Amino acid sequence: MKVCVIGGAGYIGSHTVYELIDAGHEVVVVDNLSTGLRDAVHKKAAFYEGDITDFRALDEIIAHESSKKPFGVAMHFAAKIVVPESVKNPSLYYYNNVEGVRTMLDVMVKHNIKNIIFSSTAAVYGEAKEGVCTEESETKPINPYGETKLASEKMIDWFARAYGMNYCIFRYFNVAGAHKTLEIGLLRDHLTHIVPVTIQTALGIRKKMTVFGGDYDTEDGTCVRDYIHVSDIAYAHVLGMKHIAEKNVSEVINLGSNQGFSVKNIISEVEKHYPVNHEYGARREGDPAKLIASNKRAKEILGWMPKRDLAEIILSDLQFRIKHKK
Ligand SMILES: NC(=O)c1ccc[n+]([C@@H]2O[C@H](COP(=O)([O-])OP(=O)(O)OC[C@H]3O[C@@H](n4cnc5c(N)ncnc54)[C@H](O)[C@@H]3O)[C@@H](O)[C@H]2O)c1
Repeated sequence: MKVCVIGGAGYIGSHTVYELIDAGHEVVVVDNLSTGLRDAVHKKAAFYEGDITDFRALDEIIAHESSKKPFGVAMHFAAKIVVPESVKNPSLYYYNNVEGVRTMLDVMVKHNIKNIIFSSTAAVYGEAKEGVCTEESETKPINPYGETKLASEKMIDWFARAYGMNYCIFRYFNVAGAHKTLEIGLLRDHLTHIVPVTIQTALGIRKKMTVFGGDYDTEDGTCVRDYIHVSDIAYAHVLGMKHIAEKNVSEVINLGSNQGFSVKNIISEVEKHYPVNHEYGARREGDPAKLIASNKRAKEILGWMPKRDLAEIILSDLQFRIKHKK
């Protein structure tokens, strides 16, 4: 299938492009390189620098590519994703994340692209009361980032009804790790994700890390999250697009591991390789004690299960950072 990957130079998008190409698909990447890297785009993918909020630019790219061969599916990764930034600057988040999706959907309608895969997030569940989220759990985001992803989910559903489109909305939990070739991984300034922060501390790139809260109602007092390898997430997209295109259906699916690991567990896993200089600080506002995905639906509908465990997630990110000195 010919696939348009918007945001394909970013962390999860670039891994998905690798999986798509490995599975024999033709890939066109559109990315404004605001956080993505040109070098992260697989050499066999076509690349266009462009912004998803710019209808004319996107329309031109899609028209040009469609004249050679029509697209079967479009994938959206092109979001701003930093929660504190979204609290400070909601306008940027609504414009980029929601207006961007609307523009993309308009272009898809114009060029008759019937299938969309959308990257959503566990942040749509907010402070999930029960700790384990199913796709039926209440959606109640607690920050503008989560709100923009939920608004986009709803907009995609209304477009699908109006124009006979199919969608697969994936709600990811904590994504980490790097590609097995160590060519791509999570590279950016000011990383905030717990796995790379712990590994950067272990490697001496950071002097010390702070664990936010040691008094949560969890087994060891630190927050529990569901960690999933980026290549497992990426492969789910290959399965998801095949499923919706062949069956002519739409789905909302969690991508997680069904298991929780605490911050202390992450530190202990990294300390199997190198010591981690850490201290305990105050809780961060809005951090729920426990957030785990039920992945029953992904298993039933797509036959998808994560293949890589926490040890492999940590090792791949560690090797990637040693190689790239970041
Ligand atoms: N990283 C995670 O742990 C995580 C968890 C849940 C959901 N997600 C979702 O996954 C998606 C990808 O996240 P990521 O971690 O790969 O982030 P990322 O910042 O690495 O990737 C986003 C990509 O989109 C591009 N982009 C952003 N705005 C654009 C625009 N207006 N026009 C064109 N390109 C644009 C960026 O340059 C970048 O290449 C996001 O939609 C995010 O909400 C990520």
